[in-house]
Amino acid sequence: MPKHTFKLNGETVTVKVADDVRLLWVLRDILGVTGPKYGCGINVCKACTSHINGKAFNPCAVPIDQIKRTDEITTIEGLPDAPDGGGGDLHPMQEAWLDRDVAQCGYCQPGQIMAAVALVRRAKRQGREITDADLDGIRNICRCGTYTRIREAIKQGAEQM
Ligand code: FES
Ligand code: FES
Repeated sequence: MPKHTFKLNGETVTVKVADDVRLLWVLRDILGVTGPKYGCGINVCKACTSHINGKAFNPCAVPIDQIKRTDEITTIEGLPDAPDGGGGDLHPMQEAWLDRDVAQCGYCQPGQIMAAVALVRRAKRQGREITDADLDGIRNICRCGTYTRIREAIKQGAEQM
């Protein structure tokens, strides 16, 4: 079985797994990192949203052999340790989520938060505030319909990042 090495939440990890196994199953089933959720498995629902090199991506759509040794994968478990994590137990975006009492069943919420952080980072790189059009562009599905609170929390979290 081929070996694959990459960085996960600040640690170097090596897994022995076939080249075509997609990263979401490597994370969840082999490495036991269950923050990224399995919803559709076909890059549609965004429940698995995580970060690669600081940007949002959907690991259900990426075979492990496309991940390079130098790639840094961050799941919600590693988010507080990100450079914009604020040095606390939770990332400012997670704090905003709690403050706004966003989650209902919670299943989609790790992906929502990871998408939110990536969006705010992108806007900051561009030297601007997030807009309603940015928020409209988040495509993560929430079966419980928490969209209004998600939007409020993203705006609040962005102020602390
Ligand atoms: S499980 Fe990855 S996008 Fe749906
Ligand atoms: S909180 Fe239930 S799916 Fe979003």
